[in-house]
Amino acid sequence: MTVKKPPMGWNTWNTFASNINEQLIMESADAMVKNGYKDAGYEYIVIDDCWSLKQRDEEGRLVADPEKFPHGMKYVADYVHSKGLKFGMYSCVGTNTCAGYPGSFEHEWQDAKQLAEWGVDFLKYDYCYFPSNGDGKQRYLVMAQALRASGRDILFSACNWGNAKVETWARACGVDMYRSTGDIFDNFNSAKDIAMSQVQNYCYSAPGCFNDMDMLTVGMYGKGNVGNENAQSDVEYQTQFALWCLFGSPLMIGCDVRNMTPATKEILTNKEMIALNQDPECRGVINVTTHPWDQNLKVFFRHLSDGEYAIGFFNF
Ligand code: GLA
Repeated sequence: MTVKKPPMGWNTWNTFASNINEQLIMESADAMVKNGYKDAGYEYIVIDDCWSLKQRDEEGRLVADPEKFPHGMKYVADYVHSKGLKFGMYSCVGTNTCAGYPGSFEHEWQDAKQLAEWGVDFLKYDYCYFPSNGDGKQRYLVMAQALRASGRDILFSACNWGNAKVETWARACGVDMYRSTGDIFDNFNSAKDIAMSQVQNYCYSAPGCFNDMDMLTVGMYGKGNVGNENAQSDVEYQTQFALWCLFGSPLMIGCDVRNMTPATKEILTNKEMIALNQDPECRGVINVTTHPWDQNLKVFFRHLSDGEYAIGFFNF
């Protein structure tokens, strides 16, 4: 598939982890439409880890957990599609997912076909339970080929946390977006450190393949799976969103979209910020900071289309 702009959507992991089910997904799809997120450009509803049974069936197929998803995945996909949104799921390069559910290692072709049959539009593909001396790049390529042959246009979202210089090969391996760092947590330093670690790597981002700085924690206020006691203020969330937008990262919301404060909604649907994120030329940022020693003062410049430009001033 050709992804021309940083993908936008919502993902279950940051807030809900294993506490997911079809009702949550359907209510969240409703909320994305009702609360204006779909109109703002967010389109993918992604179920992260913990959706399947711990064992494959006798034919080797992945099985959706019938307690969490009593009507099966096709039903959920159809519902998400009926709202004009797209449907995403999760698997892993290794033998198991990070939470210990079956991974797609040596089941890539079977799983890609299964996902396509369910109506999946997006696959997040993690990196746990894979031998440290194995060739991760090759396994991502296998899944990319399997997805491409599946008969459905499925966005391929790699998640190897920046290992093995992923930014240098993701595009050539058929990856549409790639996680470039370890997991985000709901505190300001986590978001800031992730962004600052990627300034040099944004030269690899361009239409078709994007550096993914992880799901946003904006609006979590310390609650949920990656929430913690250093909950952030709205100004800190604004800063996070500005960094993700200016740097051109995919924008995947991580808070509970059914219950958002007005401030969260204002930050996440800020039209000018989103337009900056979605600028068609998808250029990287240039660090033009001139302060000689203060690491908390940063200035970034970015060329936009039509000869325009953006400058971000940050006082961390
Ligand atoms: C890894 C990923 C996270 C999430 C979890 C699920 O830690 O980086 O984003 O998908 O696995 O177990």
